[in-house]
Amino acid sequence: DKAEDLTDRAPVVTIMGHVDHGKTSLLDAIREANVVSGEAGGITQHIGAYQVEKNGAKITFLDTPGHEAFTAMRARGAQATDIAILVVAADDGVMPQTIESIKHAKAAEVPIIVAINKMDKPGADPQRVRTELLQHEVFVESMGGDVLDVEVSAINKTGLDKLLETILLQAEVLELKVARDGRAEGLVVEAKLDRGRGAVATVLVQRGTLAIGDILVAGIEFARVRALINDKGEQVKEAGPSTPVEVLGFTGVPSAGDRFSVVETEARAREVTEYRQRA
Ligand code: GTP
Ligand code: NA
Ligand code: MG
Repeated sequence: DKAEDLTDRAPVVTIMGHVDHGKTSLLDAIREANVVSGEAGGITQHIGAYQVEKNGAKITFLDTPGHEAFTAMRARGAQATDIAILVVAADDGVMPQTIESIKHAKAAEVPIIVAINKMDKPGADPQRVRTELLQHEVFVESMGGDVLDVEVSAINKTGLDKLLETILLQAEVLELKVARDGRAEGLVVEAKLDRGRGAVATVLVQRGTLAIGDILVAGIEFARVRALINDKGEQVKEAGPSTPVEVLGFTGVPSAGDRFSVVETEARAREVTEYRQRA
């Protein structure tokens, strides 16, 4: 029975919002708050995405600025994100890039959670933020809508647990189920030429499980997976759905936003990538 082969996967979240409203600070605060004490060096992020655990459930955060993730990946018909966190500074309110972010999320049909940030500031006025959002058809619950909002401070690290719980609540509604077995498919999140390690790519596995030795085609490049490195910098043997992982073994540098899939043989990988290079 097909349904039995499906498993819950972690929601993939990107953070969007106006410049300086605290996107990076919030990502950092969430990651740091989630580091198990004593986990030496755990704070260092190794790749452009990370996973946190809350009440036994995982959440994947993409570090790519939300709008870039949306535009680069949507241009290729690929959807990376399940949930968009819209960061709005409580002392600044809705600004031009807030509005842009809302447009991107709506166009991609990705649900928004509003994180009203900088609640520690004297000028913080979360109610004003909620009211301003109405004009852009973002209706939070207290305004009679169904968009969830959370008051946070990335600096004081308040509201972070609530934000994670809210993400999991939203994820439950989305019923994110996917095949864990079978050949992996997903997206290239970032890629670079690394001195010493060669072409490396951070990929997000979207379905199936990626394993060492797999032959992976991404755009016009392919890899025989030599090593997989997780967000903590640890070597792992495989990566399942919603897991970000760094892949070593590429013959060239793929592009962010490229879809990847695992193929049967290296001959097939050559055939596909040579065909694409000619096209
Ligand atoms: P860009 O990536 O440049 O668009 O900015 P950003 O949205 O990532 O904002 P960033 O995290 O760089 O924060 C911008 C400024 O706001 C920094 O000086 C932060 O220290 C400050 N900031 C972020 N979050 C908070 C907060 O919760 N409270 C206060 N008081 N300051 C904050
Ligand atoms: Na900034
Ligand atoms: Mg930033």
